[in-house]
Amino acid sequence: MRPAAQRLRSCIRVEFEASSYWEACCKMSNSLEKRHAAIRHAGEDESNDIRHRAAVVEPSALRTYTPSLAVLAKSEGSYHWTPEGRKLADFTSGVLVANLGHNPTRWWQRVFAYLGLDALDPSREFFAASTLTAYNALTPLELQASERLVASLRGQAGGARLEQVMWAATGSEAVQKAIWAALDRRPGEDVILATRYGFHGKKGLAGAVTGSERDPQRDPRVRFISFPTDECQSVARRRKPLDLTPYRNELSALAAEYGTRICSMVTEPYLGGGGSYHPQKEYMQLLERFCRERDIVFILDEVQANFGRTGSLYAFTHYGVEPDIVVLGKGLGNGVPVDAAVGRADLFANMHYGEGSDTLSASPLGCAAVLATLDEFETTDVLAHACELSKVIEAGLCRLAELDIVAHVRGEGVVWGVECATFQDHPAEEVAAACVEACYLGDASGRAIHLLGPLAGKVLRVSPPLVMPLAEARDYLDVMFHIFASVEHRFRAARGHGH
Ligand SMILES: Cc1ncc(COP(=O)(O)O)c(C=O)c1O
Repeated sequence: MRPAAQRLRSCIRVEFEASSYWEACCKMSNSLEKRHAAIRHAGEDESNDIRHRAAVVEPSALRTYTPSLAVLAKSEGSYHWTPEGRKLADFTSGVLVANLGHNPTRWWQRVFAYLGLDALDPSREFFAASTLTAYNALTPLELQASERLVASLRGQAGGARLEQVMWAATGSEAVQKAIWAALDRRPGEDVILATRYGFHGKKGLAGAVTGSERDPQRDPRVRFISFPTDECQSVARRRKPLDLTPYRNELSALAAEYGTRICSMVTEPYLGGGGSYHPQKEYMQLLERFCRERDIVFILDEVQANFGRTGSLYAFTHYGVEPDIVVLGKGLGNGVPVDAAVGRADLFANMHYGEGSDTLSASPLGCAAVLATLDEFETTDVLAHACELSKVIEAGLCRLAELDIVAHVRGEGVVWGVECATFQDHPAEEVAAACVEACYLGDASGRAIHLLGPLAGKVLRVSPPLVMPLAEARDYLDVMFHIFASVEHRFRAARGHGH
């Protein structure tokens, strides 16, 4: 297997030491890739045509496998519509991007107004508005976005170190820039600690701190530390106290081995791509303390956790830690591609002139989106609503655990994971894929749910827009329960048939 493919496969694994499982996972991944090219659904002529034609002009590597491969013709609020006009409740928010919902009118109006596009005059060939290309130049919009973002972060408990914004066009780039700032600090400080099976992106140093040491091509500067996956396997388990001793001992051993060579630690508030594991806050605080005591740069990657996912605007306040650099993305632009590493000015000052610059970082479109997003979070009750939504989701998903095909439910705020179980002779990965597909196809009344491909092979992510109305969330969680029950029933019936 090519190293890159192997690395990506290592991203989808969680703490499974048995090589037989590992091999099974690779086989599963291979066969899923083959199936990807052939996805079609009955009664979806237009969608099938788009799937087929896209497979001709785009490589399958452009997508992560999702059994439904939904074609989304339009979206509004918490819903998508297929080209055939079928309505799908969105339980993904893109991939935790559209926190404010799809196409919020006031948000778009604000974006247009920031850009100066709100008074387009179609009679003129050109009109005066913000430039969209500001490479190696400055726009007032960029300054406004940087100042507002810094003020927003510093206004929160734990935000004191967040002084400057290093913009980026993707989450991976922002993570890479954060690590560069730490690597550039002092010669000889080259060891980067990262949480095992974390996900920080697929490219460059973001790819290097993703996954585990089992990747034979891994960057030798990266050392992985353990994450309490067992201890937060379910919501109930996470509410129990955590014994920090093994984690403390592991960190002490690394400190003894590498001493002052350790420049930074990169972690996520919760393991997102690695299977939706939300640790006890004490774990995060242990990591922060370890860094603080040794002058190690503590980088918190909130790309998917920020803008209300964990219940607070930024996850560092929720976890009670003070990062040296926080990495933001996804919900930051509500769908417009914009990301940022925000952190200590003295760290970014170590980077060379131009090291963090690229064509589209700090693009005025991205900056306008950030300003509009901040406006919404600062002037509406979206976070209070998210808190209520969280309770509805927890109740709805915990009911799923009554089914034999569901092993665990975990999460917080508006980001939850449903771990599927191996059922009869069906591996958990197959059960998870069947549930995604069945939710997409919907129930007898035509109520359907958009989910993404399972995390770590078998964990379904439930992360609707923060603005989903509570009654609608309740209804669709009920729909989800009945669809999962019908998948279980189908597996039972197939086995009964076979005997
Ligand atoms: C925590 C985290 N960091 C970084 C990234 C990478 O972001 P991007 O896909 O924009 O490169 C992701 C993407 O899912 C993520 O979840």
